[in-house]
Amino acid sequence: MANKDAPSAVYAITARDLAQQFDVAVAKTVAELHQYTRKIRLGAETIALVPTMGALHKGHMALVDLARQRANRVIVSIFVNPLQFGPTEDFSTYPRQLQGDCQLCAAHGVDLVFAPDARTMYPQGFQTHVEVAQLTQGLCGASRPGHFRGVTTVVLKLLNLAMADVAVFGLKDYQQLQAIRRMCLDLAHPTQIIAAPIVREGDGLALSSRNAYLSSDERTAARAISQALFTAQRAVAAGERCAATLQVQISTAIEAAGGRVDYAAVVHADSLQPLVFIEKSARAIVAAYFGRPRLLDNVDLFGGV
Ligand code: PAJ
Repeated sequence: MANKDAPSAVYAITARDLAQQFDVAVAKTVAELHQYTRKIRLGAETIALVPTMGALHKGHMALVDLARQRANRVIVSIFVNPLQFGPTEDFSTYPRQLQGDCQLCAAHGVDLVFAPDARTMYPQGFQTHVEVAQLTQGLCGASRPGHFRGVTTVVLKLLNLAMADVAVFGLKDYQQLQAIRRMCLDLAHPTQIIAAPIVREGDGLALSSRNAYLSSDERTAARAISQALFTAQRAVAAGERCAATLQVQISTAIEAAGGRVDYAAVVHADSLQPLVFIEKSARAIVAAYFGRPRLLDNVDLFGGV
């Protein structure tokens, strides 16, 4: 596991400081969270949870807006989860901006921000993990060993803590969404998982907290990822059915723009297994580096969300 101590001083700010500063309640401990959820449940209201790692942007806020349509109360969790970062990944430099995040949450009518520290999520002696076996083998799972084990472990814990009726996740992290759906189904978790569409910049780049690391040239070039995916969608609409052809076209277009492709895969939308010929449920999924940041994107090859 990477260093568990969040490096930023913003996490030393108390829940009360934040709540006073912004118009949103903040819980930092399990006791504070439960005090809030108990009150909501006594009033027979429903709760939606939006788990995040903070550095919130319009993509996250679209999840919040959807959550508000699905429940009376919205809880946003903000926790940069050390368990899902590899030893050479960007845990220590991942953007942390709790105060700005609280401001954004207040503006979107979030009822409670849950911002635990690492000790709260991983008490001394922590040794229990959840792993979704097959769905997490390929794609990002192949490039980031242990990543999804960290994701599903923290998400299950967040779902248990919030006791939410629904939880909202973005289609942007498609493999993550599928793994979480599988975990909830397999373990009979009562929280309903809702998928939210990908929010994009005007030129098509999927919004991501990691976009902040792109230089202005890299930012311009990075639009090649979504453009390549939309081109693949059009090719399928025009009758292309060969997965290998689409994969090569996607990779070539991204590399021509200066990107380094980690993978460009055409997979079955549910099983995430590689396809040879596309039939009906197919997703093209890409991970590519533009400079330092590794960017993710995907599309439904048949034009759905
Ligand atoms: P994070 O990267 O902060 O993303 C939180 C949620 O926002 C995820 O469900 C992600 O898919 C969604 N999201 C991010 N960018 C989006 C965009 N452009 N359009 C739509 N949704 C978008 O994903 C994580 O955090 C973590 O792995 C987490 C699930 C919180 C577990 O630690």
